[in-house]
Amino acid sequence: MDTVVSGIRPTGFLHLGNYFGALRNFIKMQNDNNCFFFIADYHSLTTHPTPADLHTNIKNVLIDYLAAGIDPEKSTIYVQSDVPQVCELTTLLSMNVYVGELQRVASFKEKVRRQPNNVNAGLLNYPVLMAADILLHRADKVPVGKDQEQHLEMTRDFAQRFNHIYGVDYFKLPVAYNFGQQLVKIPGLDGSTKMSKSDNEASCIYLSDEPTVIRKKVMKAVSDSGPTEPNQPKAQAIENLFALMAAVSSPETLAFFEEKYNTCQIRYGDMKKQLAEDIVNFTAPIYERIKELRSNDEYINRVARQGAEKARASADQTVGNVREIIGIKHF
Ligand code: TRP
Repeated sequence: MDTVVSGIRPTGFLHLGNYFGALRNFIKMQNDNNCFFFIADYHSLTTHPTPADLHTNIKNVLIDYLAAGIDPEKSTIYVQSDVPQVCELTTLLSMNVYVGELQRVASFKEKVRRQPNNVNAGLLNYPVLMAADILLHRADKVPVGKDQEQHLEMTRDFAQRFNHIYGVDYFKLPVAYNFGQQLVKIPGLDGSTKMSKSDNEASCIYLSDEPTVIRKKVMKAVSDSGPTEPNQPKAQAIENLFALMAAVSSPETLAFFEEKYNTCQIRYGDMKKQLAEDIVNFTAPIYERIKELRSNDEYINRVARQGAEKARASADQTVGNVREIIGIKHF
């Protein structure tokens, strides 16, 4: 069985884009892989959340993951900071990582451009911490989006460098797990091509949104005045409504509105009403479980503790081996 590692930064609730992008595939992967899914709270500290927000965000993401179908009996789900061994591995790896190569990372350069007043060392070291997350469990595969590919490449570099320096074949070189066809890109309700909370809160539908909220958001989605001739190409915002419908509605419903569009009889109000109901039906089981889990602290605490224990066992083994390879000995 292959080992899979993936982390998500706790920055808020999970939305439909997260679900169709990664989460749905994680749920499938856990059946035939040894999966470690963790909440990357150390990484999220680069943006300085308040202590109160930090804990709330972690708990919300944990609940959303579980409600969507990550099964703690099949996967190891844990909070990164519950396994501080990752900090030791970060320190040990960083001795052979060069400041210049970290300064050249695309995501770092982007941060320097966007927030010149908060270029903290945590941002610079971000790829080393991420490499440690992955190497801590000696992962074979890491499901990553485009924006994380460079980080994974660096993980392989650091792993190979370690093996080379110490003349060992200890770390495996983890490969990107690309979902390819199964990756459904969900657009925003604001006419943007990607549902993203950092761009626009109102463009997102959260798994935890109440049905009334979903209806309101969908009815406000950007559209246009409708086609003026048959089979006209669709504007981006209209393309988006159809893409959302393709994700959550039945093929018949989709075909019905395609036909209406192509014959210039479409009424976006009707289409949005239908889309809202189909989204509500789609998220309903997840939403119900989220509500249940939010009132079951005992269960959430147990899952977090069990996950931490399993992750620590795996981490202790790796860090123990790495110390030995490096020459760190106990007196
Ligand atoms: N950097 C990733 C992101 O922003 C989150 C992350 C942290 C991660 N550690 C990881 C992803 C290890 C995969 C594996 O999305």
